[in-house]
Amino acid sequence: MAWLNRSLIETRKLGEQEIRQVLKRAGELKKLWRGWRGTEFPHLSLRGRTVVNLFFEASTRTRSSFELAARRLGAHVLNLHPEASSVTKGETLFDTARNLEAMDPDLLVLRHASAGAPYQLSKILKIPIINAGDGFHEHPTQALLDLFTIEEAKGSAKGLNVLIVGDIAHSRVARSNIYTLRTMGARVSVCGPPSLMPPLARELGVAEVFHDLRKGIADADVVMMLRVQLERQNQMQFPSLGEYSRFWGLNADTVQSLKKGAIIMHPGPLNEGVEISQEVASGPYSVILNQVNNGVIIRMALMDLIFDGGSKAGGDRRRG
Ligand code: CP
Repeated sequence: MAWLNRSLIETRKLGEQEIRQVLKRAGELKKLWRGWRGTEFPHLSLRGRTVVNLFFEASTRTRSSFELAARRLGAHVLNLHPEASSVTKGETLFDTARNLEAMDPDLLVLRHASAGAPYQLSKILKIPIINAGDGFHEHPTQALLDLFTIEEAKGSAKGLNVLIVGDIAHSRVARSNIYTLRTMGARVSVCGPPSLMPPLARELGVAEVFHDLRKGIADADVVMMLRVQLERQNQMQFPSLGEYSRFWGLNADTVQSLKKGAIIMHPGPLNEGVEISQEVASGPYSVILNQVNNGVIIRMALMDLIFDGGSKAGGDRRRG
């Protein structure tokens, strides 16, 4: 199946075969990357290409990993910082994107606070767009790297009980993970304060809605903790961060209720001591830094498929 020149805006419409294709390519590239000892990476499928990172919201992991991924595959990378661009003079998102496209880049990676911004741009631009997170809509590459990390740790996502804990209502990570994990056959439940649950959580396809963390994690193979996103709430949706931590935080005490062999994930950035304690985040159940490492690999795989979708990872395919 070819994946040439296609945008990735949301996971909701990705089928099992397409997701499997990304994971397979990621596995090939990870092996190649780990085994590479030479001076030039042997799979420069983006050589001569230009990737533009346009991030209207702060990012450490996503922006850096897109840049590293593109460079590893041989691309040039332009990072446009909106706060130092003509956006500050009133230029619109559409005009900014149209002007960037006029400079002949090959791919736009967009993070924006408005849900739907990448979709709207995909209607007016000719180049592919990857959604690097839009409002509380979706964060598709995060869900793909999470799935890749789960399958590395547990073999397959099929049949696993996955519990997503925290601010489900404001989380693009939760939404993309629910869609992706369900497509791959996992049973996904959510847990958190009632005020942070979307009104129609069940319509997203979740199996159970828990409000008690210990009950929720007791049967989970994967526990995905989410950051409390105070910046996306009009007002605090729970009495205090202390109360949040007491009832829904994963710490040395609550982690005792975990099943043997369970894994703990977090997309980052962490609010240490709020949704997760430092000792749990760096403890034996945690695969959080594996997620970060796999973030580069998954973004390599996706960009590789966009520009080199029909062939196998391993050869040096230059822009022709
Ligand atoms: N997981 C994630 O999106 O992290 P950043 O905001 O640092 O990119």
